Amino acid sequence: MQQDELKTRVGQAALAYVVPGDIVGVGTGSTVNKFIDALATMKDQIPGAVSSSVASTARLQALGIPVLDANGVDRLSVYVDGADEIDPRGYMIKGGGAALTREKIVAALSERFVCIADESKWVPVLGAFPLPVEVIPMAARQIARRFESLGGTARVRLKDGMPLVTDNGQHILDVTGLHIADPLAFESQVNNWPGVVTVGVFAHQKAHVCLLGTPEGVKTLTF
Ligand code: 5RP
Repeated sequence: MQQDELKTRVGQAALAYVVPGDIVGVGTGSTVNKFIDALATMKDQIPGAVSSSVASTARLQALGIPVLDANGVDRLSVYVDGADEIDPRGYMIKGGGAALTREKIVAALSERFVCIADESKWVPVLGAFPLPVEVIPMAARQIARRFESLGGTARVRLKDGMPLVTDNGQHILDVTGLHIADPLAFESQVNNWPGVVTVGVFAHQKAHVCLLGTPEGVKTLTF
């Protein structure tokens, strides 16, 4: 089965976690796009969504789903988002779509994080996918040096030959060569470095449920 079909299936399966009458937290990426398309079929049952990116906001609004300000929301019952990697504890690497900061903010508002992913994202230990880190541009080089001292190699993400600028006006470092055995400690450590906006390890905001798309069907994993 094609990866795209697996994404469609997990996107549709996530509808079961949407609580009628509740605002939904919505992530970013190609898998989430499938969820947004599915969510449009029940748009009359929800007041709207809190979005994690400009791209998801545009897709939600194009489908007639109201997008609400996160500051007007105290708590979300569910947040649905993809991942670049997810491990058996529900810890994730995210940020391949450069939306990690707003994703973590919306996840932190949510009682339940439902991760939707095809089986290629399932890993025993985080770190094969280049770790995205959103940084203040003037700190990029010193943060890169700190990753080098941990054995990693950090590169500024480019778009059209120039540093990619996030929805928050910052840059992304992609870090290779890391083996993240203790994601909770690693996330706390990197978050303390001056100039780091958000590290793409989601351990403190881990998944509670993973809907994993496989050729045999959608597997539901709980953590
Ligand atoms: C965006 C993300 C995405 O959830 C992650 O990159 C997975 O994307 P996709 O569903 O396209 O594989 O973290 O910042």
